[in-house]
Amino acid sequence: MKDIPGYDTFVKIEPIDKGWSGNTVDYKQTKNGHQQCHCTFGDSLCKEGFNKMTDRTERVRTYVNGIFDRIENTEEKRAAYIHSYGVSHCCSLLAIRRGLDLELAAIIGLLHDVYSYKTGVIAWHSQNGAEMVRVAFKNDLTDLFTKEEQILIKSAIYHHSNKDIVHDKYDELLKDSDILQHVFVTTYGWEYGQRLLCVMKELSLPAPNIAMLPKKEAVIKPFDQSHVGDIAEAIAKKRIIGERSNPDYMQIIRYFPEETAFDELDHAWCAAFVYHCCHEAGLSLPIRVPHTAERVADCRFACVVAWYEWGVDKGFCHFEKDDFLPRRGDIVIYNNIIPKEDKSENSTWCDHIGVIVSCDGDSIMVAEGNVGNKNISDIIRRKRDDTIGCYLRIPNDYAYDGWKTDYKTGEMKIVKFMGE
Ligand SMILES: [Fe+2]
Repeated sequence: MKDIPGYDTFVKIEPIDKGWSGNTVDYKQTKNGHQQCHCTFGDSLCKEGFNKMTDRTERVRTYVNGIFDRIENTEEKRAAYIHSYGVSHCCSLLAIRRGLDLELAAIIGLLHDVYSYKTGVIAWHSQNGAEMVRVAFKNDLTDLFTKEEQILIKSAIYHHSNKDIVHDKYDELLKDSDILQHVFVTTYGWEYGQRLLCVMKELSLPAPNIAMLPKKEAVIKPFDQSHVGDIAEAIAKKRIIGERSNPDYMQIIRYFPEETAFDELDHAWCAAFVYHCCHEAGLSLPIRVPHTAERVADCRFACVVAWYEWGVDKGFCHFEKDDFLPRRGDIVIYNNIIPKEDKSENSTWCDHIGVIVSCDGDSIMVAEGNVGNKNISDIIRRKRDDTIGCYLRIPNDYAYDGWKTDYKTGEMKIVKFMGE
């Protein structure tokens, strides 16, 4: 039995193997049977609660480590570990300071950049990260979190790139931690610098010597859909085969992060081809739109249906019956162009998609992925008949603005950081 100043008298002190940082920590039991854990979780947690919490954290660690360990480039792999675990620790620190849930905070930090480290795609990695984690909650991370916890985690990941805007407390915790982990950087953008100074002050630390770039408004480059036609034509002409050994093909499907993506897109990559061409041409969209706690689209842009539903929602659909004249860069969604015998019974009418290269009277030249279900890209002449479902033409001033929607409520919410 030991007396420790400031503590109860303990009848038992045992090591627990699963510590916060993987080290052994002490679990103590007092004379009156109260169990205490002398670790970063605080003294009020019992052994059972402690183990439950570390089990969840360990499962998340195993998940992110599995992603990071597959990164081939050594420097990138190291950066993934340092940044993600560093942000996780900063989240823990700030959670203690702000009286938030330590475990959830640490887990949010671990998960926040998994999408960009898995795919190498930075654009919309917050929104795509929330989507990736949504799927992980059904598979690798199943049965770990309540629905409310899942929303809280996904929301923080979803909003973490928008550091000039204020969201909920866990969203803000992640944004601040993301910056705090980079504390050794010397030059900051306006919103990053302001946030760093605020966090340092909150932690009673001296203001770092940083250079802060002036605040600047985001410049939105007008989108030119004919450029999608240029890109699609160039890629389709390469007659890319949908195989793992084909680096061009792996680029086309890289946005879809799960290990199962290759098999799921086998002989079904026409929509992924269109998504890639749009992305390369500057029409950048998250892989699933909309995706909030309130409303989740039926499928990702790897499915033709996603393009149709998005087009209808935005008012971008045009039809032959209205004498619409398709032009280079328009997206064409086909109507039952795949022979019945090659389709499953419940498949929808919109069964294939491509990008218009040119229109010539009653026919169009179209750049497509998986042309004729032959697992290859090519340019093909199609008739403007009833196999055309609709065309999508996107206005030049279009820019995705779903990030303005609050993840939890599904409502538009813009509160500028520091009242700017
Ligand atoms: Fe980050």
